[in-house]
Amino acid sequence: MCHCARLSACCVAIVFSVASIAAQTGVQTSAQTAPPNPYALVRPSPTLARHAMVVSIHHDASDAGVEVLKAGGNAVDAAVAVGFALAVVYPQAGNLGGGGFMLIRMKTGEAHFLDYRERAPAAATAGMYLDAQKNVVPELSTVGYRAIGVPGTVAGLVYAEKTYGRLTLAQVMAPAIRFASQGYILPEEEARTLAAAKNLAQFPESRRIFQRDGNFLKSGDHFTQSDLAATLKRIAVDPASFYKGPMAAELAASIQKGGGLLTTADLAAYQVKDRAPLTGSYRGYQIVTAPPPSAGGIVLIEALNILSGYDLAKMGDRSPQQVHVITEAFRRAFKDRADYLGDPDFVSMPIQQMASPAYAAAWRKSIDPLKPSPSATLTRPAGFLPPPPATPRAAAHESTETTHFSVVDAEGNAVSSTTTLNGLFGSGVTAGPLGFLLNNEMDDFTAKPGAPNMYGLIQGPANAIAPGKRPLSNMTPTIVLKDGKVLLVLGSPGGSTIITTVANDIVSILDNSLNVQQAADAPRFHHQYLPDVLQVEKSFPQPVLDALKASGYAVSRINEVDEKNPGVWGDSEMITIDPNSGTLLGADDQRHKFGKAAGY
Ligand code: DON
Repeated sequence: MCHCARLSACCVAIVFSVASIAAQTGVQTSAQTAPPNPYALVRPSPTLARHAMVVSIHHDASDAGVEVLKAGGNAVDAAVAVGFALAVVYPQAGNLGGGGFMLIRMKTGEAHFLDYRERAPAAATAGMYLDAQKNVVPELSTVGYRAIGVPGTVAGLVYAEKTYGRLTLAQVMAPAIRFASQGYILPEEEARTLAAAKNLAQFPESRRIFQRDGNFLKSGDHFTQSDLAATLKRIAVDPASFYKGPMAAELAASIQKGGGLLTTADLAAYQVKDRAPLTGSYRGYQIVTAPPPSAGGIVLIEALNILSGYDLAKMGDRSPQQVHVITEAFRRAFKDRADYLGDPDFVSMPIQQMASPAYAAAWRKSIDPLKPSPSATLTRPAGFLPPPPATPRAAAHESTETTHFSVVDAEGNAVSSTTTLNGLFGSGVTAGPLGFLLNNEMDDFTAKPGAPNMYGLIQGPANAIAPGKRPLSNMTPTIVLKDGKVLLVLGSPGGSTIITTVANDIVSILDNSLNVQQAADAPRFHHQYLPDVLQVEKSFPQPVLDALKASGYAVSRINEVDEKNPGVWGDSEMITIDPNSGTLLGADDQRHKFGKAAGY
């Protein structure tokens, strides 16, 4: 396996010391008066490249992006290549049968947010996951055919390539086709995930792909996917037939055979949305991020607006005081998520008001400097937002079954993209003859107002199921600019923790002066309003947690480490650009060991 270690020669042009890299990023002025930062002292250096960089969770996918860049492709060509490659080499989340978002920022300043989120089939109804007593039926929205939304990924990647790429679809799909037909070596961590995939084991078509003689593939196995290779080749030649034509017919038939709702008409009606990104500012940097149907961007901007009134650097990186005010900002922004957000094509939302600095200032006044504000009694400042459609409630769970990748090309075009099947291997269902997994994105809708979804998120009527509607997402592909130039490209998987991971990373870099690698590896914390619990990764410092507990927080640390619970949240996939030298600095998140920041 050519997994380029961070300091090895295959993708690193030059290695600077941590201190010189921090200086290069040009973002550490506010921390010069801050206490020494423990995370800056002990963590490693980023991967550096002169011209272009691709960061993803899988080394083969990152290399595929670089291959396409070197063949004359731009950042969008590379991103499309990575997206298709991940569908082969990272089947738990990379996908053809799911959906995603791609944030594109061209060197001209033009920015686009491609929304290829799944949609509810036309036959879907608001109460489709409830029993006769109106209780949510366990697993109906998460496992099997009924959980499947109309996939958007193929439409999205093809639209991106044709509209903003420069090469042909066949060129950018070539690495994925190669990985599927010639195979790749299954990493140890992936084999462990596979072994625990109970949903896959339930479906014969999935067992046929992922098992040999009744056992899941093992670490080091050579994994070829001939059905998937054939499907990729068909897409490369005639992408439209995935939605209208023979492939659409095969896909719909395979889902209907299992009792799913998806029809050829649903596939024919699927449309990518090329939306305007949401923008905000933080400490003089411009934040370009995900608009609805993601909750990610607005929750991020709202939280950062609240935090802009505090000198976080002076408080100290991950000090009890810093974690406290950040947590309180998360709590407030997530309360608004729960009450207001859904698909913008179906519901109207007070996005502009939620993003206003005056609203953030009013929220800030409600934060006690010493103790948490219980979520149960938290009251929204009056006079800013219209009354919400309803008040739901809930409990939490994190997982890492989505994936993000970031790309910057030699001309300065940037792409930040997050893609998902939702849960681990999605619904567990493989589209019969086509050889790819299908999502369980329907669980991101409100199955019942107030009932928690897979991530413990409470969901209101704004996110109720309706035919053709997109479920509310957390995915937060983001690009941070300084003086109109790209400084940081980032995003992560992790359900509701996606938003707080992106916020943690932005604060780590802009306030705490960590370099991009240190920021990726630093321990994260999360609060989502309900449940009223401050959640932290296993590496979060215990004395800080003790102090927060003493101030009144209910805390939860991921202590148990096994294949279902690695004690960490999703990998951040980040690139920064040094504003002075133009050097690219990539973070190869150490939570998972088979990712790569690849550049040249
Ligand atoms: O769109 C969403 O918010 C979820 N479907 C994302 C799922 C996810 O991140 C899974 N785990 N990492």
